[in-house]
Amino acid sequence: MNQTRWDHTRIPPQNGKLAVVTGANSGLGWHISLQLARQGAHVVMACRDKARALQAMEAIRAEVPGARLSFQALDLANQQSVSACAAALSAAHSHIDLLVNNAGVMFLPYALSADGFEIQMACNHLGHFLLTGLLLGPLGRASAPRVVTMSSGFNHYGRLPQEGFRGSPRYSRHRAYCDTKLANIVFARELASRLAGARSHIVSVAAHPGYASTNLQFGAANVSASRWLASLNRAAMRVSNALLAQPASMGALPALYAATDSGVKNGDYFGPDGLQESRGYPKLVDAPRRALAADEVARFWALSEAATGFSYGDATLGRESGHGAVRLR
Ligand SMILES: NC(=O)c1ccc[n+]([C@@H]2O[C@H](COP(=O)([O-])OP(=O)(O)OC[C@H]3O[C@@H](n4cnc5c(N)ncnc54)[C@H](OP(=O)(O)O)[C@@H]3O)[C@@H](O)[C@H]2O)c1
Repeated sequence: MNQTRWDHTRIPPQNGKLAVVTGANSGLGWHISLQLARQGAHVVMACRDKARALQAMEAIRAEVPGARLSFQALDLANQQSVSACAAALSAAHSHIDLLVNNAGVMFLPYALSADGFEIQMACNHLGHFLLTGLLLGPLGRASAPRVVTMSSGFNHYGRLPQEGFRGSPRYSRHRAYCDTKLANIVFARELASRLAGARSHIVSVAAHPGYASTNLQFGAANVSASRWLASLNRAAMRVSNALLAQPASMGALPALYAATDSGVKNGDYFGPDGLQESRGYPKLVDAPRRALAADEVARFWALSEAATGFSYGDATLGRESGHGAVRLR
């Protein structure tokens, strides 16, 4: 990447493209949707709350009159909802050009998802692992498809679960979040490698936003044990966001670059170029060393397949016409 100060004004035209953005109603997902819609993409906003999604669409249309937007229900922490979302998208669209695995939760206290997995891992990793697998068919039918997965600089502090995804009630909610963000970058890169191995034209890349002012920091505050503690946490987050964070519009840039620039290569990872990758414009960044341990990655991938019931080895990529169907190993 040899461009400097890449921003949303350099996004190429997206007319005729279909983009699916998870967690599109808030923060980075909203800005990613806004900029894709501004350049002419049809953006499917895959969100867990319809009212919040409709409000977010209205806010985009206030900036981009005539923006092509649709709502798709998706609760990533519930695998039945993920499967229903993928089925609805596959039925409604002949192909998908772009999938942005953006939605996330942070620092939540221990809880189990509908499927019995630790809630942060269920939402941030397992939901996206399953959704992406189920959408490989329609992605494969696009001419230049991409999957962008949102990680975090916190991935450097994570470890890959090696025994399963239930966590433990004694777990650290901060560590657990870091684990999910390591899982995101590992997923993006391992998918890239499997796609390349299968000679698929689908590109898998990752991004992280640095520190951006969004609603993410308030999720944990809102479930604090007492109302007093919740208000204190919210106040602390507001101060921290105001003093230290960059705007969400800037935090969205690495993912937007990953999603749209013509120079992006399978397996690339982008983050901000300033102050320890906490702010700034997109640049190529290094994945944490822990993302590179092949045996751990293989075990983690197998565990993810077991937890979701989805085997990437059995997935057929939809290039039936002209190119022949290809399969992932
Ligand atoms: N902001 C930062 O500084 C920062 C730093 C590093 C990484 N990130 C990553 O950036 C991504 C976006 O976060 P953000 O900062 O934009 O936070 P945000 O404003 O809180 O947005 C998160 C989005 O995810 C959605 N979501 C949460 N749980 C979901 C579920 N079970 N199913 C479907 N959607 C769900 C939320 O929906 P609701 O509105 O319904 O809750 C919301 O739309 C996350 O993956 C986060 O880890 C952010």
